[in-house]
Amino acid sequence: MSEDWLEYLRKVASPTDRSRPAYVYPVTDEVTNTRLQQQDPNKHTLEQALFSAMLQDAWRVAIDFGCGTGAHFFLFDGHEHRKNLLIGIDPDCKRVEWARQVAEYRLQFVQSHILCGGIELLEHTPKRLKADVVLCSQVLGHVSENQTRRIIKGFHRILAKNGRCGIAIPIVGAQFKENPQAGDWSGKEDYPHLVHMSKSPSDHDFRCYITIDEFNKAAEQPEPGLLPVRSFIVPNFPNLATIKLPYLLDVPPPTIGQLISPFFRVEKCAIYSIHKDPGSPVFPVGDMFIQLRKK
Ligand SMILES: C[S@@+](CC[C@H](N)C(=O)[O-])C[C@H]1O[C@@H](n2cnc3c(N)ncnc32)[C@H](O)[C@@H]1O
Repeated sequence: MSEDWLEYLRKVASPTDRSRPAYVYPVTDEVTNTRLQQQDPNKHTLEQALFSAMLQDAWRVAIDFGCGTGAHFFLFDGHEHRKNLLIGIDPDCKRVEWARQVAEYRLQFVQSHILCGGIELLEHTPKRLKADVVLCSQVLGHVSENQTRRIIKGFHRILAKNGRCGIAIPIVGAQFKENPQAGDWSGKEDYPHLVHMSKSPSDHDFRCYITIDEFNKAAEQPEPGLLPVRSFIVPNFPNLATIKLPYLLDVPPPTIGQLISPFFRVEKCAIYSIHKDPGSPVFPVGDMFIQLRKK
């Protein structure tokens, strides 16, 4: 199957959909990692442990969708994966160049092929080409509602029977309404906002609430330094004083749950990070891992 894939991937080495406007992710990894160090230094370790556990089941072809600079590529490597193929996809071509270098220098065993593009690449792939596993880390919180629908459908299309998918998304609880950064947010639906990366997480305007329509536009064409984020609301967010991470939940956030249910069974939902803004009370803002199995 890998050979068949490689032959196809060589043909689509450049973006297939030229009508798509060039996309540039608005922040560098250096900036996001600095913020992360302030908010939750353990986030990457737990995130990677959850993805890694999902990759323990046998696989031959894997896709890292929205791979960015390839921060998760090493999770796919290992001598037992000598014959396996990892496909990285990201619409920001500069980040793809970086990811290609990461693949070249860090991956010893698994074969890799990194493409610049988006969901259209999976929508146009010949039906015979299937993947066993898709990883999608911190992408769905930064794309428009339309893209989210297409991406979930695209994952279902590309996955083989029983294929699995791991996604990581930002989450929020209703209690965040008490934070000045919540602005006019109702506390009853997802919290779309812009993160001003040049500010400190404790500044009142580090996160600014925007409407979902404004978010959809900002996500298609982000401005440098302003990261559009849609945090998915988790009803009955657990009490942060008593939980230990990762914290398992029975169901994903409702908006994601609705999109997923026609295509996937939910195997695991876990809150794995809580962002503690320095100098602010601990609010329910964090990240969730969701493991899915194709229906
Ligand atoms: C927060 S970064 C996550 C990168 C990587 N997955 C990780 O966890 O380190 C979000 C990534 O999503 C990519 N992205 C943005 N819009 C996308 C879209 N419509 N389809 C696929 N990827 C997208 C960005 O270019 C960026 O690299």
